[in-house]
Amino acid sequence: MKSVNYRHAPVMPQEVVAALLPQRGGIFVDCTVGLGGHAELLLRGSPEVRLIAFDRDAEAIEMARRRLGMERVTFVKADYRRLRQVLADLAVSEGEVAGVLADLGVSSMQLESSERGFSFQRDGPLDMRMDRSFGPTAADLVNSLSDRELADILLRYGEERSCFKIARAICEARKRSPIKTTLELAKIVERTVGWRRGRNTHPATQTFQALRIAVNCELDRLQDFVSDAVQVLMPAGRLAVITFHSLEDRLIKGAFRYEAGICRCSNWLPSCVCGAKAKVTILTQKPIVPSQEELRLNPRARSAKLRVCQKI
Ligand SMILES: C[S@@+](CC[C@H](N)C(=O)[O-])C[C@H]1O[C@@H](n2cnc3c(N)ncnc32)[C@H](O)[C@@H]1O
Repeated sequence: MKSVNYRHAPVMPQEVVAALLPQRGGIFVDCTVGLGGHAELLLRGSPEVRLIAFDRDAEAIEMARRRLGMERVTFVKADYRRLRQVLADLAVSEGEVAGVLADLGVSSMQLESSERGFSFQRDGPLDMRMDRSFGPTAADLVNSLSDRELADILLRYGEERSCFKIARAICEARKRSPIKTTLELAKIVERTVGWRRGRNTHPATQTFQALRIAVNCELDRLQDFVSDAVQVLMPAGRLAVITFHSLEDRLIKGAFRYEAGICRCSNWLPSCVCGAKAKVTILTQKPIVPSQEELRLNPRARSAKLRVCQKI
């Protein structure tokens, strides 16, 4: 493996290795290779590990390729929600995979590159696309959606209490000229809601999270992804998912419970219609969170939660 400068510290590295047991060897899938931190640890687990590494960000794939080399890794620039199709194309059979990892969200590289437009702390074009080859940018959304649509995004994906106020302020501001940069948007939000007493997070934190989730459709088909991952695992194979906010974590928790055979039908239905059948054992009744020591070294890990299940 070649060494390369990088700044993304993989979250809960020992916990991920303990969860996925790469020392057993076999085919592992890193659904979100990013800068390759977790992938490197999985490859180190055993010379018998072969890795299939997904990312929808071409720059991340390139950086991970430089870091990990191509001897034991197959890189795929694709959305991990296409997992089953991609594995079929690579002639990997269902039931052949020893472990799947999904470390959701954005990487430090994406957050720190001002030209990617993810951060309210760095001025850059209001882009926020993980895959820059297609799809609307955050600027397209803030300059074209109605105030109701914007408020809906802010509430649904950012749990932003001042969603209507912010949406109206955005619509007012764009009448003067289109909102093109991260700092323009951050200032509009800051002027509208101000700094909340007792909170030291920037007032635009939730607005940026919401737009990023909307631009990248981050919460779509997450539950189907968990089913697909379980489907490709071998018996006793493991799935580990790291989430960074409560919306994602709730979906993953629900999907794990469904795969563990826990019915998700409403109480008022006379009998089960969801067809939940136990396919996995949940290994983390409560999610694993970073240690105090890790948080001291990497404060960005503060909201991370790791959930693990094992195929029956
Ligand atoms: C938190 S970072 C992963 C960091 C990585 N574990 C490491 O140690 O360097 C998340 C990565 O997932 C990618 N990503 C997010 N959603 C994705 C999706 N639906 N399909 C493929 N990649 C995705 C992002 O582009 C980003 O590079």
